Amino acid sequence: MMKLYEKGLPENVILKELDSKLKEDFTYDSGKIVGSMCTQPHPFTRQVYLKCLKKNLGDPGLFKASSKLEQETVGMLGSLLSHPDASGHIVSGGTEANILALWVARNLARNKRREVIVPVSAHCSLDKAADLLNLELVKVKLNDHFQMDVKQAEDAITEKTVAIVGVAGTTGLGVVDPLPELSEIALTHNIYFHVDAAFGGFVLPFLKELGCNVPDFDFRLPGVCSITVDPHKMGLAPIPAGGILFRDADMMKSISTRIPYLAGGRAEHTTILGTRSGASSIAVWALLTHLGRQGYRGLVSRCMRLTSKLVEGIRRIDGVCLVTEPTMNMVGIKSDVMDIQLVAQDLRRRGWAVSLLPGYIRVVVMPHVKSSHIESFLQDLENTVKKLSE
Ligand SMILES: Cc1ncc(COP(=O)(O)O)c(C=O)c1O
Repeated sequence: MMKLYEKGLPENVILKELDSKLKEDFTYDSGKIVGSMCTQPHPFTRQVYLKCLKKNLGDPGLFKASSKLEQETVGMLGSLLSHPDASGHIVSGGTEANILALWVARNLARNKRREVIVPVSAHCSLDKAADLLNLELVKVKLNDHFQMDVKQAEDAITEKTVAIVGVAGTTGLGVVDPLPELSEIALTHNIYFHVDAAFGGFVLPFLKELGCNVPDFDFRLPGVCSITVDPHKMGLAPIPAGGILFRDADMMKSISTRIPYLAGGRAEHTTILGTRSGASSIAVWALLTHLGRQGYRGLVSRCMRLTSKLVEGIRRIDGVCLVTEPTMNMVGIKSDVMDIQLVAQDLRRRGWAVSLLPGYIRVVVMPHVKSSHIESFLQDLENTVKKLSE
């Protein structure tokens, strides 16, 4: 148990101790992290982050310029998602963004409505949101393509429905729900429609620019009220950096809270947090400005090339197969002949940080993953499968 010293230790002693204590962590450089949606932040963000450590977006009167930059960042994310006039915030991550979306949806409904329709593949942040907001998730089954079943979603609508949530890049397989159909349904029934593009928001627009057939998933769909899009996933931003965008600034008024005591003068907060990091938001501003569409397109293209290499390798290994054809840089690996949990355990013993979901292993080919890492992962996967077949 660590205690708080009476007299502090010198900086160099602490730094040395930190180096030693942090050795236990996995590192992105090792190439062994193949199951995370986070990655090595872009090196340019380091200096921006340090420059802005003191900025507090919770007091926008004191940090007017930082607040403007946050709004410019929201504008850039909005333009990425077909709505440059979107309103919103750079928040701590996809969880906070999803909570904010459901908070707004619930308050806009302002009656006894309590139910939110989500696919069973929705991220668990929505369970947290429902618990916090006293809402109930109605979980809809998936179709044969691992997408939310549209008919079941429509059948689940009742007079208690607050919102429908669709996912653009599910946590397990990177699947995109049938969002154009869900948007139509939401419009027809006049129901709030949120799209969780925490992962896909930084992938799908660039896949489209690279010539892939990507159905509309963003504000181009008229029923979409809000979108979660996370810079700290495929956006290469340092943690914490999530994004929540609303079609209309007025929507956020439903959660606005007056903060009377701030040094910069009274302000209205439309976030969960009070004091919040300006550094992370400004780092996103700098990064989007630096990489531009071209930079992100290149990144996505490289990740997809390596995903194809992984897929080809998996196809060559007897005993394992793909759960489904990948939509983005995320691959599900299953087995019809052995317990995939044992495969995951053995890969972990070999040092691989893979994700285990019910029935399959998830590999996310993030920007820190190199071709050589894919080769050595495939080699270990083959060895594991051979060992377990004996
Ligand atoms: C689709 C989706 N939404 C939301 C989240 C939550 O994001 P965070 O972990 O940044 O809170 C995740 C995380 O993996 C996710 O995959």
